[in-house]
Amino acid sequence: GKHQLLSVDQFTRETVEELCSLADIMQPIARRQKVSRVLEGAVLGNLFFEASTRTRVSFGSAFCRLGGSVCDTTGFTFSSMAKGESIYDTSRVMSGYVDAMVIRHPEQGSVAEFARATNIPVVNGGDGAGEHPSQALLDLYTISTEFSRLGKLLDGAHIALVGDLKYGRTVHSLIKLLGMYRGLKFTLISPPGLEMPEHIVEQVAKQGKHVIEQTSSLEKGLPGVDVIYATRVQKERFEEGQDGSFTADFQVNKAIIDRCCGPDVIVMHPLPRDSREGAHDLSVDLNHDPRLAIFRQADNGIPVRMAIFAVLLGVETLVQHSMRDVTW
Ligand code: CP
Repeated sequence: GKHQLLSVDQFTRETVEELCSLADIMQPIARRQKVSRVLEGAVLGNLFFEASTRTRVSFGSAFCRLGGSVCDTTGFTFSSMAKGESIYDTSRVMSGYVDAMVIRHPEQGSVAEFARATNIPVVNGGDGAGEHPSQALLDLYTISTEFSRLGKLLDGAHIALVGDLKYGRTVHSLIKLLGMYRGLKFTLISPPGLEMPEHIVEQVAKQGKHVIEQTSSLEKGLPGVDVIYATRVQKERFEEGQDGSFTADFQVNKAIIDRCCGPDVIVMHPLPRDSREGAHDLSVDLNHDPRLAIFRQADNGIPVRMAIFAVLLGVETLVQHSMRDVTW
């Protein structure tokens, strides 16, 4: 059968928790205490037709740390799609060269098109404003590990999703994954015009007894939350002439967190955060604040992506036996 990761809709709470347990097993490799060669001889094709640092490098690193190797084709310029080659032909050809593909592409649905043309495992590394399932899985893993440390449960948690909820594909995937838990309260805080798509809100409302509130005010939305998940305003996906001048009002910074939240709040962001003048989604004044989880979150990309490969390539039960101590 086909082994693909295209959408979080493929998961149940049980399979998400199995993946998180497998990520825990991978942690000694991610932390460079152990090594494994379980994917020795396997080759990953990393096909990124849109900018990426974390997803591209962490998928590549995760594959290499399990003993495999990586071929990169980054950007349309370096692929024959620049000469008009179709997704179908590209995918068929790549299937003969590599054992799994991770694909990022600016058009929603395009990664599913790659997947339909091949029998090798395909992972959606982000398809336009569609989904980013591996990011949502590592975000859920992060919330779960941070909550364990704080003695909190995911059931009943209060989560604020902040910023560009219309074009931010990571929040589209994450809210559906969180919706698999019980009795959550979601506060969706976005500038006017960048609200979470209605069909996703409806899907999550049907998943369980959740409270879903929407506001355009950080001051009103933040009090009482357990997690603040900030996002970058994705101006590159704006329609012609769409105004993006409101972004400064949505900056998550130390002052507003000190004013509205307690000492146990977790501040997350899928990254990259925009450091350019006038586009601050998450302030740097939290960089040394322990409530800022963004770098722990980015680090979790390695064990979670190792777990994804182990499942897709059918080696999940071999991993533990293949671990050895590091010799370097
Ligand atoms: N979070 C994330 O997808 O980052 P990159 O765009 O750098 O891959």
